[in-house]
Formats: sequence, structure tokens, C-alpha cells
Amino acid sequence: MTDLSESAAWKALEAHYEATKDTQMKELFKSDPERFSKLSLKFEDILFDYSKNRVTEETMDLLYKLAEQQNVKGLAEKMFSGEKINATEDRAVLHVALRNQSNSPILVDGKDVMPDVNETLARIKAFTESVRSGEWKGQTGKSIAAVVNIGIGGSDLGPVMVTEALKPYTKRDLAMHFCSNVDGTHIAEILKLCDPETTLILVASKTFTTQETMTNAMTAKKWLLDHFKGDETAVPKHFAALSTNAKGVSEFGIDTNNMFGFWDWVGGRYSLWSAIGTSIALAIGYDNWMELHAGAHAVDQHFLNAPPKENLPLTLALIGIWYNNFYKAETFAILPYDQYMHRFPAYFQQGDMESNGKYVNKSGQKVSVQTGPILWGEPGTNGQHAFYQLIHQGTKLIPCDFLAPTQTQNDVPKDLGGPTDHHPILLSNFFAQTEAMAFGKDADTVRKELEGKMDAKAIDDLVPHKVFEGNRPSNSFLFKKLTPRTLGSLISMYEMKIFVQGAIWDINSFDQWGVELGKQLAKAILPELQADGNVSSHDSSTNGLINYYKANK
Ligand code: F6P
Repeated sequence: MTDLSESAAWKALEAHYEATKDTQMKELFKSDPERFSKLSLKFEDILFDYSKNRVTEETMDLLYKLAEQQNVKGLAEKMFSGEKINATEDRAVLHVALRNQSNSPILVDGKDVMPDVNETLARIKAFTESVRSGEWKGQTGKSIAAVVNIGIGGSDLGPVMVTEALKPYTKRDLAMHFCSNVDGTHIAEILKLCDPETTLILVASKTFTTQETMTNAMTAKKWLLDHFKGDETAVPKHFAALSTNAKGVSEFGIDTNNMFGFWDWVGGRYSLWSAIGTSIALAIGYDNWMELHAGAHAVDQHFLNAPPKENLPLTLALIGIWYNNFYKAETFAILPYDQYMHRFPAYFQQGDMESNGKYVNKSGQKVSVQTGPILWGEPGTNGQHAFYQLIHQGTKLIPCDFLAPTQTQNDVPKDLGGPTDHHPILLSNFFAQTEAMAFGKDADTVRKELEGKMDAKAIDDLVPHKVFEGNRPSNSFLFKKLTPRTLGSLISMYEMKIFVQGAIWDINSFDQWGVELGKQLAKAILPELQADGNVSSHDSSTNGLINYYKANK
């Protein structure tokens, strides 16, 4: 197979980049009044405007050709049909089966996975409904008032992100807590807020071996048993497990009747659709969780079937490739103008960086091109007062995705009166930022604004500092309201974007060997921290740090 960087489609894009790299968006908009309608797409009520990018229709055509050359569609078909595309772990990649609301059969090793998926979903429905209705009783006959989800990475970020994003749909009298960090402070502070008699603890771990989760789960179990004076009969009333590891679950002491399983073909960072989403169903109700699935399923089908130019996740992914690989952008930002989406960037930080942070391709060769970008972001407008300075006037190119609902779920001003028109204020900032990034402010305009306010010398000195070069790219997403369905669609859209980029770079987006070494070394270091005396088995820095800790603990 030709090396990607030597391939025809790549070479054509390189040549196109050289020819167009100085193109100004300002000029592109001036020369084509139809640019917005040509370079925007709609999916249900999601509007995706990608016109504020350094692309022309020719750029897009060349990018679509790259996707064709790399057979992105072929790999997608393999994923959706249950082929084991995660070769290093010999696994299928089927989070799409979890939201396959068409229920069409999907075979893994010749067996349809849908009956098991449906059976587990039915058990989660019954369980979550009995907890939410108050029918599920704790050890002393009281209903559940608080849920603590103990998990980390994919067993935490998805549930946290979604329960925050869909807060308006939550049962407000069921407190939701998420404990992830092995720092004892995290569990300690959460347990201080909970009453053991009314708390349900979900131990969420695909492997049921993750050190952080098992440590926090043991601490929570001790807290419960201390309260019930060691009476183990309390455990099944207050603990449930979300895992693929039935043996680990029963060894921990959780009744497997209270275990909701899933399968090795669900990647951790793609698992909120599986039993790992039980906390979501508890918070927003099973039917709303299913709406989330439905929104994702709709985008899955769109991704699989829509022609390239109408294909939203494909187009989004290709624009990312354009900046990552041709403009050599190192990072990109996700900037939701919706407070409810405040964990959305963090969620996709794992989704993207754990998936595509790989330096070898599927054949084990070192890649010849840059792979996954660094993803970061904060909700607008907070980000504006923190890091947008660098986005507007820094030396680095940072493509940004802006996302916002057109309708707020908290219409504050109507009730209060006065200058509190929050949502238009919020959205005026969204539109202003993307406009400022794209079109900037030239020296003449700055000069005119300063004339009459200071002398000529002061104006000359100040002008360069107040110029905005512009030509900084952004994508904009507007949707009506952050409903479960819309959120499901947005999540699938980014998941498929990650998939497309991994397919183009020919890397395995579904393993995560890069997290193993740190875990292995920590296991070896822990007994050294617990034993007496200085250590000398590491390099001088690691020895020095460990010994300083031991001398000062
Ligand atoms: O960080 C590595 C990782 O394996 C993630 O992929 C996963 O989401 C997380 O750890 C948690 O794993 P588990 O669900 O097995 O506890």
C-alpha cells in the first residue's frame, strides 16, 4: 500500500495547499455571495456552517477524494457489520449496535448481538424505573435519594457529560454524584453528602480491575458496611455493577442480579450507550436515554448513507484533516455556548485523544503524517475572558468549533425584567467571535477609531497591537434546543468524525495501549511507597521524588 504522504490524493492536497495557503476568507466571502449556503449543511435541526474556513469547493473536492482513496466508507461498513476492525485487541467495534434502534441483526462471530443488547436494555429499564419511582428500597426500607457513580475515563466522562448536558430532564430529587479520581478527597467529599440508607452506588468499570475505580469502590463499601455494622445483606440493596467482568463483580461482593453487562466490542470511551449509561437513565429517565440513542442512531445512518458532500461527520472530519495535516495546526478547540454542555469538550478530549493519539499505523509502521490533534475547550463566554486572546492574536492557528442552541431552557429575563436578556447576549458573543476570527480588523479601521483620541505618534505605536489579522477558521453548529435526541446526534457526529480521521490516517482508533505503561509502573512504585527506607532502583529524578515524598509524608 502506498504511504499516505506519497499517495495521489495527499499530493494533490499538498499542491493545493501551496497554491492557496495565503487565501483570505474575506476575499472568499466577497467573491461568492452564496458561500454560506454552499458551505453549510443541515441534519434535522442541526445547522452546520463551515463557510468560515480556509477552504474552497475545490479544497473540499480534494478532501472528499482523500476519503475515497482511503476507503473510509468501506471501513465504516466493516464497523457497522461487526467485523473485528480493532485488530490489536481482536475486537469488533459496535457501540453503534447499542443504539441500533432499527434492531436489524448485527453479527459478531456469526451471532446476532441485538437480542443480548435488547435484553440488557430491558433490565436497565426495569431497574432504573424502580429506583426512580421509589419502589427500590435500601436496607432500612427507605427509597433512594442519591446515586454515586464510581468510574473513570469512559466509565465516568460520558455519564457526567450527558447528565450535566441534560440537567433540565433530570429528576431533581435524585442527587447524582460522580466519583472518578483515586485522590481520596473525591470519594470523601461525595460521601459526606450522602446518607448510606438512601444511597445507591454504581461501580462502573468495563474491566472491573481499574485501580482508581476499585479503590474508590472499596472505600464506598467500607463506608456502607461501617454504617450497617458489617451487615453484608446491605450490599445488594445499595450496590450495582456496570461491567463486562461477572467474575470480578461477584468477587467484589456485588450480587450479579445487580450487574448490568456489556461486551468486549464496546470501547470504554464509546460506552455511554451501554450499561455504563445506567446513571444517565437514572438521572433523565430510561425513555430520555433512549431518545439520546435515537439521535445517535439517526446520525449513524446519515453517516453510513449520505453522499460525501451532504455527509456532516465526514465533512467535519475532512476540515479537521485540512488544518491538522496541511496547515499543521497542533490543536483544536470545542467551544459550546451552552452552560449545560460544560463537560462536552472534556468528554471528547478522551474520545478524540485516546482514539487517535497513535504514532504507528495499522501495520505497525511509524506514521508519515501527523495524527490526532490536541483537543481542549471551555464553554463560552468564560473562554472569551481566558484564552481567546491567543486565538485572535496569538502565533498559533487554532481551528474552533462553536456550538449553541437557538432556544434557551432558562428564560430568565421574562421573569426578572430589566437588562437580563441572557440568551441573545450569549449568542451575540458566539456570532461576534466567529466573525472577529474570520474577518479581523485592519490597520486602517483601527487608525480611524483612534483618530481624535490621541496624538499621531501614540496612534502609530498603538495600531499594531490593536490589529486583528483575521482569517482564523471556525465551524459553527446551531441547533434548536439541547434535547436528548439532539445531544445524541451531536455525540455521534463527533464519534464519526474521529472514526473518519483514524481511517484516513490508517491507525487503529479503538485501542489505547498508550495508557498501559503508566499503570504498570505505578503498580511497581506503590509497594516502594508503602515500605520503609529510601529507594534507589529508578533514575535519579524518580528516586529523588519518591524519597522526598517518603521523607515528608
Ligand atoms: O484510560 C484507559 C481506560 O482503559 C479507558 O479507555 C477507559 O475508559 C478507562 O480506562 C476505564 O476503564 P474501565 O471501564 O475498565 O474501568
